[in-house]
Amino acid sequence: MTGAAPVPRSMVIDHIGTLVSNAPELGTGELGELPGAALVVEDGRVAWAGPRERAPGADTRVDAGGRCVIPGFVDSHSHIVFAGDRSREFASRMSGQPYEAGGIRATVAATRAATDGALLDTATRLLREARAQGTTTLEIKSGYGLSVRDEERCLRVAGRLSEEVTFLGGHLVPPEYAADPDGYVELVTGPMLRACAPHARWVDVFCERGAFGEEASRRILTAGQRHGLRARVHGNQLGEGPGVRLAVELGAASVDHCSYLGPDDIDALAQSARGGAGPATVATLLPGVDFCTRQRYPDARALLDAGATVALASDCNPGSCYSSSMAFCVALAVRELGMTPEEALWAATAGGARALRRDDVGHLGVGARADLTLLDAPNPLYLAYRPGVPQVAAVYKDGDLVS
Ligand code: NIG
Ligand code: FE
Repeated sequence: MTGAAPVPRSMVIDHIGTLVSNAPELGTGELGELPGAALVVEDGRVAWAGPRERAPGADTRVDAGGRCVIPGFVDSHSHIVFAGDRSREFASRMSGQPYEAGGIRATVAATRAATDGALLDTATRLLREARAQGTTTLEIKSGYGLSVRDEERCLRVAGRLSEEVTFLGGHLVPPEYAADPDGYVELVTGPMLRACAPHARWVDVFCERGAFGEEASRRILTAGQRHGLRARVHGNQLGEGPGVRLAVELGAASVDHCSYLGPDDIDALAQSARGGAGPATVATLLPGVDFCTRQRYPDARALLDAGATVALASDCNPGSCYSSSMAFCVALAVRELGMTPEEALWAATAGGARALRRDDVGHLGVGARADLTLLDAPNPLYLAYRPGVPQVAAVYKDGDLVS
């Protein structure tokens, strides 16, 4: 083959019952909803969207059959690189045992003992599972290795599957450092970070009682930032604590969990969304975790009413929530967190994109990646209206049919 430029492939998705674009200029409301729509994809990007009678021609045509089209879910929080099984821990929680961060250690032991191939197989299966349910962007964290070698190999596995890779050496102090937690922070901020930073885009820390306190969390996050990583935080999952305020102080893209917030935490998040020093620190809510650990749900209504930017994510992991379903998160957010169906869908798509500081995903405005899902439903209310029912008919990523 000689050097002819590739011919742009174009495709029109026609006969869309309702298009949810998250691009207000294309339709009504924040979701930019448009009934009777078509959308043209060229070279993996949205080239045109609007009323179907005005759609330009394209090389190929897909008939959406009156189905609803939504942006692919942007799941900004997962831990899918792991080995082992914690189903019994889940069962004992359901009969009254509290969730404790310590369960993470069981997964660490199994992950350290697993081959790279086994870790990749599990993570690949979970990525496919998420994709089949409409997720087109999935952030993946390390955090079950907790040694230089094991964190690095978990990140290499994650990097095979996603560009949104997060270094979470600061997940928990591993047993061999139980008597010397400061020594572990030294390891994380020194040799581990040097080995891991080239394989990650983000640095995260579990800032919680039983994991890392405020000072250790600050050290880990700022060391990561000095290595060119951007910060995100696990905070306020099991009780009120410094996580949210630290995330805002350091300009983190997101603080995740937020189940226990005081008025100052809500103010800090709202203030950051009103345009503090930079883009908002997003409050990423993980209602699947609160469901699976019988914890308190976050007060999304208070956050939204104060003006904070809210995202929803799965937190898919073997301990606190072994679900990759963003539709389940949407249903929980509407039933339990006080969000409207529209707010929940926005949070699971555009909100996730904000939490990853991405403007090319989470919406279907012109120029966005053609990451989208056809729902077997006439409108997006059905996501929350029919909980637990598979409604995903097809998933496109960069314009290619992937599920
Ligand atoms: O986000 N909170 C900390 N880490 C995970 C849980 C990990 C586990 O229990 O294995 C979470 O919920
Ligand atoms: Fe998590």
